Amino acid sequence: HTEENIENLVIGSGYGGAVAALRLTQADKKVVMLEMGLNWEKEEGKYKPFSDLITPKNNSTWLNKATQAPMMNIARFNKKFTGVLDRMDFENIKVYAGRGVGGGSLVNGGMAVQPKKAYFQEIFPDLNVDQFWDTYFPLAQKELDVNEISDEYYEQTPYYKFARVGESEAHHAGFEIVRVPNVYSFEYMKKEEAGEVPKSALAKEVIYGNNHGKQSLEKTYLKKALETGLLNIQDLHRVDYIKKTEKGYTVYVDLIDTAGLVIAKKTIHCQKLFLNGGSVGTTKLLLASMHKGKMKNFDKSVGSHWGNNGNVMTGRNMVNTLFNRVENESTESNYSTGTGSKQSTIPVSGIDHWEDKKHAFFAEISPLPMGMEVYTALYLVINKVPVPGRISFDPSINDIRIHWEEKNFKHTVDNAKYFIKKMNKANGGTPSGLLWKGGYGPDICYHPLGGAVLGKTTDLYGRVKGYEHLYITDGALVPASIGVNPFLTITAIAEYCMEEIIKSDFQEE
Ligand code: FDA
Repeated sequence: HTEENIENLVIGSGYGGAVAALRLTQADKKVVMLEMGLNWEKEEGKYKPFSDLITPKNNSTWLNKATQAPMMNIARFNKKFTGVLDRMDFENIKVYAGRGVGGGSLVNGGMAVQPKKAYFQEIFPDLNVDQFWDTYFPLAQKELDVNEISDEYYEQTPYYKFARVGESEAHHAGFEIVRVPNVYSFEYMKKEEAGEVPKSALAKEVIYGNNHGKQSLEKTYLKKALETGLLNIQDLHRVDYIKKTEKGYTVYVDLIDTAGLVIAKKTIHCQKLFLNGGSVGTTKLLLASMHKGKMKNFDKSVGSHWGNNGNVMTGRNMVNTLFNRVENESTESNYSTGTGSKQSTIPVSGIDHWEDKKHAFFAEISPLPMGMEVYTALYLVINKVPVPGRISFDPSINDIRIHWEEKNFKHTVDNAKYFIKKMNKANGGTPSGLLWKGGYGPDICYHPLGGAVLGKTTDLYGRVKGYEHLYITDGALVPASIGVNPFLTITAIAEYCMEEIIKSDFQEE
C-alpha cells in the first residue's frame, strides 16, 4: 500500500481526460493521469499488435474469456486479459467502451461529426452556440486531426463499395445523404491500398484497436501533453472511489495486473481532481463516492439524464436486391449486388433524416468487413432520447445499475423500422438473419452519454456542484443524446470547460 501527494489528478484518459491533461500541462501545471486500462504503447508496444475483427486474440477484450462484439463470431480465450474493448452488461442495455490510454479513441470508428446546431442548442440551452461553432468545434477538429475522404478516392476504391451502395440505396429511398469526416488518415488509407504501408482499416482492424492510420488520442492530445514533460500517465490504475478532505480529495486506487487481479492499493491525495471516466465511469465514481466516501453534497441530479444516444444497430439482407437494382437502374449495382468482400472499417457516410418531426434519426452506413460477401447492409441508427434513463448505485452488488426500459428506447426501434421499411420498399431487401431477433438491436450502446450533466450536476463549466476543485469534462456532461456520433462534441465541450477552469480556478497560484 502506497501513498502519494499531488496537485492535479485526472482520472481517465479518453477525450475528456486528454483535453484536461493538455490544457493543464500547457498552463504549466503538473498532472498525474490514472487509467484502468493498459498503456498500449509501453515497452515498445509489448501487448500489441491489436487484433483484427476476424481472428481476435485476448488483447481484444476487457477481462472476459470470450469476445463480446455484436455480429462477429465469438472467439474464446484461455486467459482473461485487460484487452481494449469492454462491454458492461446491464438489464436492458450493453454498454461498450474502450480501455487503455486513449479510452474510446482506441476502439471507435473515428467518425468526427458535428451535431445539428439547433439540436445542440436544444440539448444545451444555456451555452452560446455561435461560440461553439466559431471556436470550440474548429479547435477540436484541429487538435483531433480530423480529415475527409476525397471524392476521387471514395468513388473508385472497392473498399467503399458498401458505402456507395448504401448511399445510392438511401438516395433511391428518398433519404438525404451526408459524407462524414473522420480522424483516420485517408492519405494513409490510400497508401494501404497501394501496398506501400501496413494495412489497418483495410485489414479489418477497428473495434479491437487500429495498429496504424487512426489518429487516436495517444497520437494527438496525449502526445502533446506528454511533450510538455509535465504529464505522468499511470496505467492499470483503477479508481474505486474518492473522499473529500480538508485540502482536497483522497482517491482510493486498485492497481491491477493484466489478468485484472488487484496486486496493490494506492491512496492519492490531490488538490484538484478531474473525473473523466466516461459517462458510465464518471457517474459510477460519483455514486460510489456518495456511498463509500460519504460525499453527500452532490446535486440530486447525479445519475440522471442518461442515455445511449438513441443507438439502434440494424441491417438488411440484400440478396434479393439484385433484381430490383436492375429494374431501378441504380448506380454500380446493375452489375453486382451486396456490399463487397473488401470493406474499409472506417465509416464515411450517413443518412440525415433529422428534420423529420415524426421520425428524426441519423444513420451511419456501417461496414461489416467479414472478408467475404455477406449481402448485409449494416446501420447504426442514432435518435433523440426524449425520456432519459438513470444510473443508480446498489450497495448489495457494490456496483451501479442502469435503468433503461421500453419507454426509453421504443421510439428508436420504431424509427429504425420505418427506415428499413422504406429502404426495402425502394431497393428490395429482407430482415437480416445475421443480426438480432427481428433485426433490431436497441440494447446496444456505443455512445453512452450523461449521468453528470452540464448545468445540473455541474455548473456551466464542469465544476461539480457542492464541492470545490472537483471537475468533470467528459461524456457524462451530455444529457442522453446529441444526435450524431459524440466524441467531437465531447472534445469541444471539454475545451470550453477547461478554458474557463484554467482562467479562473488557477489564479491564486
Ligand atoms: P472514454 O470512454 O473515451 O474515456 C474514459 C476512460 O476512463 C477510459 O479509458 C476508461 O478506461 C477510463 N476509466 C473509467 N473509469 C475509470 C476508473 N474508475 N479508474 C481509472 N480509469 C477509468 N464516437 C464518435 O464520435 N465516432 C465514432 O465513430 C464512434 N465509434 C465508436 C465505436 C465503438 C465500438 C465505441 C465503443 C464507441 C464509439 N464512439 C464513437 C463513442 C466514443 O468513443 C465515446 O463517445 C468517447 O470515447 C467518450 O469519451 P469520454 O472521454 O467521455 O470517455
